[in-house]
Amino acid sequence: MKILFYMPHADAAAWLHDFAHALPEAELREWQAGDTAPADFAVVWRPPREMLAGRDDLRAIFNLGAGVDAILALEHEHPGTLPRSAQLIRLEDTGMAPQMAEYVTHAVLRYLRRFDEYQTLQNERRWAVLDPHPRETFTVGVLGLGVLGAHVAQTLAAFGMPVRGYSRSARQIDGLATFAGEAQFDTFLDGVKVLVNLLPHTPDTRDVLNARTFAKLARGAYLINVARGGHLVEADLLDALASGQLAAATLDVFREEPLPAEHPFWQEPRITITPHMSALTLREESVGQVARKIDALMRGDTVSGVVNLERGY
Ligand code: NAP
Ligand code: GLV
Repeated sequence: MKILFYMPHADAAAWLHDFAHALPEAELREWQAGDTAPADFAVVWRPPREMLAGRDDLRAIFNLGAGVDAILALEHEHPGTLPRSAQLIRLEDTGMAPQMAEYVTHAVLRYLRRFDEYQTLQNERRWAVLDPHPRETFTVGVLGLGVLGAHVAQTLAAFGMPVRGYSRSARQIDGLATFAGEAQFDTFLDGVKVLVNLLPHTPDTRDVLNARTFAKLARGAYLINVARGGHLVEADLLDALASGQLAAATLDVFREEPLPAEHPFWQEPRITITPHMSALTLREESVGQVARKIDALMRGDTVSGVVNLERGY
């Protein structure tokens, strides 16, 4: 069995070493430009089109992340790039869910306990106690109740604030009020104090964080975007901060990454910026999950995490 690997900026030797250990019978190689030799599986992150186009021998393409938007964008721009024979399979959790829960919990508690405002007071050498936000109305709304969103929402619910979740199809999750589909979107948003985005980036969800969405939230709400930059209409965020409809935002993802030095977000003190690090791909967990799925596919079994190309996630 032949496996192609491609992950820019990664320690390819370490990944290939771990895969060789997990799949001793496999022939592994890092893809280099011009390599069109046969392969059964591809393990990739943001691959170039030439790596996949015309590879009708591939049985599966493993995406080394949860979001498959970049790989589907290749197919959208150049239809036929993804080999029809190959399933596209995304990572499921592999240690990302606890990282995401830590990141979002940190941001929510920072807003709940007003630590961001205390930092400003400290910078001004001012000693003052601010009125606490009432926990019972500090409603958190999580967009996306998949592998990551459901874990994040349940983690937050343990802190005692009201937590809501929103998904495409109806879901029931202990401790959460759940909403599904466009018909329930406005009810989900109504009165939310912290909006957390964990949707996949698809044609249906692009630009979902916009002026209309912000207007439905509680006055002075907070935004935490940890999904994709393409979900956010950037000018609408700046307008909502200027008007006071939003009090602050924590952003881990951006339309252009790295965020250009001249981007206005860098100048806005109410925006907290991190460099797409809320949930990193962990090598050990990812190699283990991909190797188990390759073993299963070789036995003729089905696996979970197969992307529905029509839905886009
Ligand atoms: P997932 O398991 O596929 O879950 C996606 C969730 O979004 C599901 O609940 C799905 O609804 C819902 N959804 C999809 N389209 C929708 C729509 N049009 N309307 C309402 N709900 C919709 O994905 P995941 O593993 O949780 O990951 C979510 C995203 O996080 C990834 O796609 C990626 O972009 C992002 N991410 C970011 C980082 C980072 O470091 N910043 C790391 C990992 C992932 P159903 O339940 O009905 O299917
Ligand atoms: C990272 O952004 C991922 O989708 O895994």
